[in-house]
Amino acid sequence: MKEQHIFLIGFMGSGKSTVGKLLAERLNLPFIDSDKEIEHIEGRSITEIFSTDGEAAFREMELHFLDRLKKAKPAVIAVGGGLPILEGALESMHQLGLVIYLNTSLLTLIKRLKEEKQFRPLLKELTDSEFHPFVEDLLSQRVHFYKQAKLIMPNERNSPVELVEKLMKELNKLIC
Ligand code: S3P
Repeated sequence: MKEQHIFLIGFMGSGKSTVGKLLAERLNLPFIDSDKEIEHIEGRSITEIFSTDGEAAFREMELHFLDRLKKAKPAVIAVGGGLPILEGALESMHQLGLVIYLNTSLLTLIKRLKEEKQFRPLLKELTDSEFHPFVEDLLSQRVHFYKQAKLIMPNERNSPVELVEKLMKELNKLIC
């Protein structure tokens, strides 16, 4: 494959970090998680950034993160669920590498996210009755962006290891 990054995009809870780490190991590439990288640079959690500086400031940080990748060595990158929606972000990712969408159904996402809601600033204040409609609405606003990925991988019934095997096959097809 040409020297380039591999981006994993998709909604919160779609498995980008778990799959990304395994894929990076298989490809012998570094793994980068945009949220972790921003937390490292800022010295505080995403939740703190949201509550102190607000979402708009966090989105700026995400764009700066993307900008820094222009100088980085090829890596597998798990991208925060809101990053591909930012202006120019998808174009930059397409220029910098291969964009893969981990496509997970609304019901699976809701099930996974309910268990981790307290760690997610966009979700943690939602009541039980608000949760489903909020996630459904946000996903429907974003899915059009996610579907602009070069590769769309359903991530529903596979284990992360199985998904990585499937991804490896798809990546091999792209090289041949
Ligand atoms: C967000 C997704 C999160 C994180 C932040 C906002 C979003 O990342 O960047 O909480 O807007 O969807 P993950 O998709 O890695 O959970």
